[in-house]
Amino acid sequence: MKVLAVYPGSFDPVTNGHLDIIRRGSRLFDRIVVAILRNPEKEPLFGLQERRKILQRATSGIPNVSVDSFDGLLVDYARRRGAQVIVRGLRALSDFEYEFQMALMNRRLDSSIETVFMMPSETYSYLSSRLVKEVVRLGGSVTGLVPPEVEQRLGARVGSRRKRTARKAAQRTQRRSRE
Ligand code: PNS
Repeated sequence: MKVLAVYPGSFDPVTNGHLDIIRRGSRLFDRIVVAILRNPEKEPLFGLQERRKILQRATSGIPNVSVDSFDGLLVDYARRRGAQVIVRGLRALSDFEYEFQMALMNRRLDSSIETVFMMPSETYSYLSSRLVKEVVRLGGSVTGLVPPEVEQRLGARVGSRRKRTARKAAQRTQRRSRE
């Protein structure tokens, strides 16, 4: 039997930790679909299409990996795709409680789909998309933690946000001095 796995997440943005899990998963399963959550309630830094393209380019060298997006329940999506496995990365003990709840809820919703946890290389055990964005926003370097394309895009995005904020602050000061 061929085993298809779904690796879901927000990937805002994809990190080298995610890519490490994808590579490990691609050696274990016949096919792995990286599934980006479409969540209208969250305001991501990178749009859905942008995240999709970045992931496609970052995984283009791994033949049995494809990229897709989904909304609604993850188990419904996995069933539609004919996947038997959901892959999640476990970095530290702090991930465990949330992942445990999610895995058991997903099992309750569909007991035929198994969640498999994989550990990334210890180099990435502290890495998260949230921290990457925070470090860049505060002027730190994320070289080696994200693909070069993500690093460039983060720099451009945060740089233009900084300029916009500075321009607005200057306009406010001008207005006040005229009043
Ligand atoms: O990378 P993330 O943001 O931690 O990924 C979370 C994700 C996308 C796996 C999770 O939010 C999810 O599965 N959402 C789909 C909605 C769903 O099925 N909810 C019930 C899960 S218990």
